[in-house]
Amino acid sequence: MEDGGRWAETARSTFRREYGRDAQWAASAPGRVNLIGEHTDYNGGLALPCAIDREALVLLAPRDDFRVRVSAWDLAESADFEVSVAQPQRDWSDYVRGIFFALAERGVETSGFDLGIVSRVPMNAGLSSSAALGVAVAAGVSQALGLEMGPRDWAHIAHRSESGFVGVACGLLDHFASALGRQGHALRMDCRSEEVEAISVGGEPFGFLLVHSGVERRLADGTYGMRVDECRRALDAAVGAGLAPQSARVLSDLAGVDREALEAALDPLLFRRARHVLSENERVEAFCQALAAGDLQRLGSLLAEAQASLAEDYAVSTPEIDWLCAFGPSCEGVLGSRLTGAGLGGFTLHLVLTDSRQAAEEQIGRGFEARFGSRPQSLWVQPSQGARVEALGD
Ligand code: GLA
Repeated sequence: MEDGGRWAETARSTFRREYGRDAQWAASAPGRVNLIGEHTDYNGGLALPCAIDREALVLLAPRDDFRVRVSAWDLAESADFEVSVAQPQRDWSDYVRGIFFALAERGVETSGFDLGIVSRVPMNAGLSSSAALGVAVAAGVSQALGLEMGPRDWAHIAHRSESGFVGVACGLLDHFASALGRQGHALRMDCRSEEVEAISVGGEPFGFLLVHSGVERRLADGTYGMRVDECRRALDAAVGAGLAPQSARVLSDLAGVDREALEAALDPLLFRRARHVLSENERVEAFCQALAAGDLQRLGSLLAEAQASLAEDYAVSTPEIDWLCAFGPSCEGVLGSRLTGAGLGGFTLHLVLTDSRQAAEEQIGRGFEARFGSRPQSLWVQPSQGARVEALGD
């Protein structure tokens, strides 16, 4: 664990102080950065996320009643509820409540728990802090209950919690990345078949620099849901126009449809949304090929194409993100830049040659400050291992 385990040690003593007994399990799950393949997951498409070396840590101990007490130590907040009462409160605790909701929906009978949470995944920044929390709670609770579940189940439970309880119509990207991440690898995800292939990005001559746009983003705001809805309407219109069979379930099923015919059949806004999704799927494939071929220039230009598509066709960029993604590649050693995650704020991703790490970070930081008046938050992330659970001894 990070900081040679000191972080976890502090959490264990906080748990002891708060609950008057030792935590029995520690579950951790990382945030993620998506290299390419944005807004494709809920359209049954392709994505290429990495789990990152920033994680949520959940300590827990089962109780012999049905009460759940949970403390979010970073937020200095706590919640207390009965496992059987699934009422969203519209706050951070819903990501914990929702796990009990999703387990109950699967017919799992759970006991109560004492839980303590700390997280090093920046919040509202496009790095999936909520998925990290949900996956960690799902992993810890299911392991503590002795359920026969693995990382895919944890991902599905956390996804169900977020979509069915918290009320965000998100796809599987974040939860899969957090649960299944592999050190030194990105995951090529086919979100329709749920096939995942680990692709090595560990030995590359570049690293991943994240620079914050200065704008917070929240998935629960309306734009994300609007895009999901627009994609659904684009699919329905294409099926209605006879361009795809009635059996088409997701926008990615329109991959083989002639683009001009699609453009003629769809409302212009819906066409742009569909064009983003279909072209983004192609870019994920091309990105994987460029990785295999070691074609660094192509990797950079694919990031630029993805950014343009997200800004113009999908309308999820902001002036700060546009600026960072245009300026990034003019800095030393930056191969390419784009937004990561849902967009409309949060971090931007920059692929940077390892030898130019310092220069690139400094130049982007200085440029942003000159343009927007404040130094942006920036961090380097490593492709990391996904969720894990540990039984704690004395
Ligand atoms: C958010 C959602 C994901 C995915 C991305 C955009 O992170 O939680 O499911 O849709 O946005 O690619």
